[in-house]
Amino acid sequence: MQIREPISEDDFVKYYALRYKMLRQPWNQPLGSEKADDDHECFHAMICNDEQDVLAVCRLQMNSPTEAQIRFMAVDSAHQKKGLGRGIIDYVENVAISKGADKLVLDARDYALPFYEKTGYRVVGESYLLFGVIKHFRMEKLLRDMDAQNQVL
Ligand SMILES: CC(C)(COP(=O)(O)OP(=O)(O)OC[C@H]1O[C@@H](n2cnc3c(N)ncnc32)[C@H](O)[C@@H]1OP(=O)(O)O)[C@@H](O)C(=O)NCCC(=O)NCCS
Repeated sequence: MQIREPISEDDFVKYYALRYKMLRQPWNQPLGSEKADDDHECFHAMICNDEQDVLAVCRLQMNSPTEAQIRFMAVDSAHQKKGLGRGIIDYVENVAISKGADKLVLDARDYALPFYEKTGYRVVGESYLLFGVIKHFRMEKLLRDMDAQNQVL
């Protein structure tokens, strides 16, 4: 198992395929809807197995010099509840710290709230409705304390 950035064209094909499968296809969204116009400005992470199958994906963007945002987070349904979500979140949080962020924000789908609460995020308000049915909540996590912990370790 390996956590890394997608690099090759093949990496990105598999990266987007998992985004589509987990975040768009179940709501009958068209192929291509898994891509965002600003993807090229963002940091991308994925977890692969030894066969280079992509099992988890996540995108990190900087909203300002000190605020980062997680989007397009997904773990393949066959590999959920094995710690991959926590692993990829830890990884991008450390990338966010290295880029100068002291706060991470995200818009969580209602059914993913328990996962984000377990990984240290708290709800700060309601957010948008996706595809007319998926309610989102704005969540955040302060990274300053985490950075201090990393320096102690
Ligand atoms: C939400 C998601 C990313 C979680 O990934 P995961 O790999 O299953 O999560 P982990 O195994 O790392 O779980 C970390 C902790 O959260 C808990 N958890 C994960 N999903 C949970 C759920 N649906 N309900 C309650 N707890 C949950 C785990 O039990 C674990 O708790 P523990 O540390 O006490 O053992 C994954 O279920 C997913 O991709 N879902 C579909 C796409 C999606 O909703 N993406 C988020 C969009 S905002």
